[in-house]
Amino acid sequence: SLLTRSQRISHENLRLRDPEWLGSAERWFQARAGHAGSARAPMFAPFQLRDMALANRVVVSPMAQYKAVDGRPTDWHFVHYAERAKGGAGLVYTEMTCVSPEGRITPGCPGLYAPEHEAAWKRLCDFVHAETPAKLCAQIGHSGPKGSTQLGWQEMDAPLAEGNWPILAASAVAWSERNQVPKAMERADMDRVREEFVAAARMAERAGFDMLEVHAAHGYLLSSFITPLTNRRDDDYGGSLENRMRYPLEVIRAVRAAWPAHKPLAVRISANDWVGDKGVTPDEAVEIARLLQAAEVDIVDVSAGQTSTRAKPQYGRMFQTPFSDRIRNETGMATMAVGNIYQADHVNSILMAGRADLVCLARPHLADPYWTLHAAAGIQDRECEWPAPYRAGRDQLLRLAERGEGWM
Ligand SMILES: Cc1cc2nc3c(=O)[nH]c(=O)nc-3n(C[C@H](O)[C@H](O)[C@H](O)COP(=O)(O)O)c2cc1C
Repeated sequence: SLLTRSQRISHENLRLRDPEWLGSAERWFQARAGHAGSARAPMFAPFQLRDMALANRVVVSPMAQYKAVDGRPTDWHFVHYAERAKGGAGLVYTEMTCVSPEGRITPGCPGLYAPEHEAAWKRLCDFVHAETPAKLCAQIGHSGPKGSTQLGWQEMDAPLAEGNWPILAASAVAWSERNQVPKAMERADMDRVREEFVAAARMAERAGFDMLEVHAAHGYLLSSFITPLTNRRDDDYGGSLENRMRYPLEVIRAVRAAWPAHKPLAVRISANDWVGDKGVTPDEAVEIARLLQAAEVDIVDVSAGQTSTRAKPQYGRMFQTPFSDRIRNETGMATMAVGNIYQADHVNSILMAGRADLVCLARPHLADPYWTLHAAAGIQDRECEWPAPYRAGRDQLLRLAERGEGWM
């Protein structure tokens, strides 16, 4: 644990130094995951959350595609997510899927608020369950103060040139000088939005998703309550952490009650506002996780930042993993690590050191939908399940990898 946490001596580096010891550690990890006798790398250990059994620990992190029409996922989404489900990751997330038209970030964001949205997501869930071992998680959210903004490849977080819609937040604090000042939510707004989350959860269940995540990170609506940088309320929903968490927890508890008891629920948080002790700090993130744990959340998806234009993040390899590490080891809760993790070696180092239970990769999955299958070949793992029609490709790739050759 001490060696791999240093990030200098990685999993594969330990193999070079003492292959026998690492092999025994891998067998120990697999046995604890219920696969006694397996000597596969930690990323290929199974993982169970409630009744959902994942084949491995790799997660396709949520990534907005900006390709929806009136909240309806299109063929783009079907092909995009189906390909990633074929690509070997144990769990595939949808992008932030919005609970109302006003709760969209951009006009291209998908929703779970109309029957045609449910039908489109159901088509995807049916395909993925019929053709792949992957499980699907819907990330549901409300954009709050970052709503009514441009597509990701236009000017991100900037207001629309035309057709802006009114936005909501914890307080009347604009994301930036250019963005609209949101309406500070009143009790009636809180009730309505909570019910929108509940309705979206019910749709996700009917569509067939295996898991649900409430997005409470990155400066969107629920995040605008949690961070003191944007929550200026002087009622029961502002001030202390307990007060700032009151509304997010109300939504999460209502969603948990509507979501089937056998299916897991996650919450994504920003574990660090990166603005010193005026914002959420990694210390406070541990307390946030404890409150989520008490609300029967099964796993915390530990992201950071994007809550303030004043943030000064310290980027680097696996830079957010220390926050997941602390939450997991101080609360005993399951966690997911995310952020600049791109090699199988990173994933295995994180898992073996007990810094997270699952590891999310976002941008690597834009570059390569088959990241998991390719990473398996790279570390000479021959047990990964490939789609049957692609087995000749797998065999060639494994032969080339054995000889230290690639395609490029
Ligand atoms: C194009 C793009 C879209 C994203 N959309 C979302 C999103 O909808 N919801 C979310 O929680 N995070 C979103 N993220 C953040 C990623 O899930 C992830 O936390 C971040 O990219 C860091 O991981 P990476 O270094 O593996 O890319 C997005 C990231 C990218 C690159």
